[in-house]
Amino acid sequence: MTHQTRIEARIAEWSQQLPQGNLYAPMAYLMGLPAKRVRPMLVLMACELFGGKAEDALDEALGIELFHNFTLMHDDIMDAAPLRRGHATVHEKWDVNTAILSGDAMLVKAYQLMGKRPEVAALFSGYALNVCEGQQLDMDFERRDQVALAEYRAMIRLKTAVLLACALRVGAAIAGASVEDNERIGAFGEHLGLAFQLRDDLLDAFGDPARTGKQQGGDLRAGKKTFLLIRGLEVAGAAGRNELRDELAKPAGLRDVHRMLAVLEDLGVRAEAERAVEAGEHSAMQALDALAVEDARKAPLRALAAKLMARSR
Ligand code: IPE
Ligand code: IPE
Ligand code: MG
Ligand code: MG
Ligand code: MG
Repeated sequence: MTHQTRIEARIAEWSQQLPQGNLYAPMAYLMGLPAKRVRPMLVLMACELFGGKAEDALDEALGIELFHNFTLMHDDIMDAAPLRRGHATVHEKWDVNTAILSGDAMLVKAYQLMGKRPEVAALFSGYALNVCEGQQLDMDFERRDQVALAEYRAMIRLKTAVLLACALRVGAAIAGASVEDNERIGAFGEHLGLAFQLRDDLLDAFGDPARTGKQQGGDLRAGKKTFLLIRGLEVAGAAGRNELRDELAKPAGLRDVHRMLAVLEDLGVRAEAERAVEAGEHSAMQALDALAVEDARKAPLRALAAKLMARSR
């Protein structure tokens, strides 16, 4: 059985045992939509990398995917997103209050699974708080005119990268890896996660919505300070171009996203972002190379990282 099959089967089994009603139905709905399952894959792969059995880490793999889905349910409220995984978001299909409460309950369910082993619970709690810190910065930056690239990197490290690091470290902890190995696999996860969020930002702007399953240009519409908008504003300022500033001065609903995309393309900012993703991916691969584990054992993680680099969804 592949890891992907194992994970999907565990999720399906989990969904089927949920009680009826509007608290649980949104969980089953969101968890059942087609997704990449990156974080649970990382848990199982890191566990095997350090000699553990994937079967022993399945609860935690499910737990971290539940946590991820809780963050998505609330993130879609914060980002006013209509679409997730090609379908209506929970707050659109039900309502905002239902999405808040169902998300809260999903977080509790995640904790029940992540709390089985004390060392896993401790790792997870620290990182889960980081995700909230990152999400708050993401919202704070929407309201600011200027955000530095270093601040953006710190924000995406918190909101996204640390959860990939967490998944790997949890898998490593279950396998009984040494403290040093556990930290090194975490470093790989952070590099991978930074590149992952940069790619996510690029896909939000330039991806095919039929592939991403999200509304195109949602970040630009919301004035999110992504790499693209931060560098876009800097480069446009130096070139005396005002289109981005003009669009941002309008209310979010009236912004011409296609005009903003054209400027980003024109000024070479899209190409610059592509190069930044590649640099991040390169750092991730180097961190993986540096792990003191027999090279052949790294093949599944290397393949997953390569797949994420080429992703279109
Ligand atoms: C989306 O995560 C949120 C980010 C951190 C970018 P994924 O891209 O892993 O979404 P799914 O789970 O595959 O839908
Ligand atoms: C996701 O950031 C971070 C978390 C959900 C914690 P985004 O807001 O970019 O994620 P998507 O694009 O909606 O999936
Ligand atoms: Mg979002
Ligand atoms: Mg968001
Ligand atoms: Mg995004």
